[in-house]
Amino acid sequence: MTTSQPAGVSEADLEHLFDRTIADDARIEPRDWMPDGYRKTLIRQVAQHAHSEIIGMQPEGNWLTRAPSLRRKAILMAKVQDEAGHGLYLYSAAETLGADRVDLTVKLIEGKQKYSSIFNYPTLTYADVGTIGWLVDGAAICNQVPLCRSSFGPYARAMIRVCKEESFHQRQGYELLATMMRGTDEQRAMVQESVNRWWWPALMMFGPPDDKSPNTEQSMQWKIKRHTNDELRQRFVDMSMPQAKALGVTFPDPDLAWNEERGSYDFGEPDWNEFTEVITGNGAANAERIANRRAAHEDGVWVREAAMAFAARNEETN
Ligand code: 3HC
Repeated sequence: MTTSQPAGVSEADLEHLFDRTIADDARIEPRDWMPDGYRKTLIRQVAQHAHSEIIGMQPEGNWLTRAPSLRRKAILMAKVQDEAGHGLYLYSAAETLGADRVDLTVKLIEGKQKYSSIFNYPTLTYADVGTIGWLVDGAAICNQVPLCRSSFGPYARAMIRVCKEESFHQRQGYELLATMMRGTDEQRAMVQESVNRWWWPALMMFGPPDDKSPNTEQSMQWKIKRHTNDELRQRFVDMSMPQAKALGVTFPDPDLAWNEERGSYDFGEPDWNEFTEVITGNGAANAERIANRRAAHEDGVWVREAAMAFAARNEETN
């Protein structure tokens, strides 16, 4: 898609208007002029975010048929469906930038676009459903609430609804874990074991450290991102510690300690080699996640063809 440039208005004027809009904290809308780099960065981030929501249905979807009660099953089903909805809002936001939804999906299944590292870990017990809600959706909220003020209008507006739903997801996870912690010793051990496995991957969701994040500086200047990766990671640790204490679980980090001077928790360094392996396709579940997504895309060919034929017929008759 080319940027709209009204006749008689110079590129320099348009750039000036764009810069002023960003400086005034106003929103860039799809038909506004924008630098190519801004458009490209947004398509990259929004597409990765959309793919994450869709791939993110798989780890928990794994437990739908084995939920321990009808109540738990209904809650989990609603959550997984919400994630599908989030993916759809986000693909729509990417389309307003000129991206093509099918093309983005093909790029995902061919490994040309990323999705969140967190969804490449397996869900081994039902406690993982609670831990994902509490920590993974908790990290997602921490990252995404500031994105409600992102400079691109459709992305920021999509985030408002997404965050409301993520907040429900986080609470259902916490409530599930709190219920298990009031149960038997075996259940409490299951929760702790699950928290031990998810803590470090949850911290990695925020992306590489600031000094190794190639995109943060420019994205902050454009107000696509409002905080750096490390700022949000710190916020998440500070938010999670009192919740862990209330639940009665610990995090597997010997360096976690309150720092009176900073008014924040100190914490250890995630294993960034593991992160690199996971985002380059070598995590425990990467191959399975992509194989499932590819199969769903291929199985859906007839639905897309039928929808296109129906739309074409409607166009002919109107
Ligand atoms: N998983 C996979 N890739 C990651 C990543 C992660 N956790 N963190 C960073 N990366 C990738 C980046 O995409 C970038 O790769 P690229 O240049 O090839 O595209 C590279 O690592 C360097 O990272 P940067 O910090 O420079 O990249 P960004 O400035 O884009 O910051 C981000 C990364 C913080 C994840 C940012 O893109 C962002 O805030 N995205 C929106 C939120 C999002 O996508 N969340 C995914 C989780 S989905 C979810 O929360 C669903 C819920 O249901 C749980």
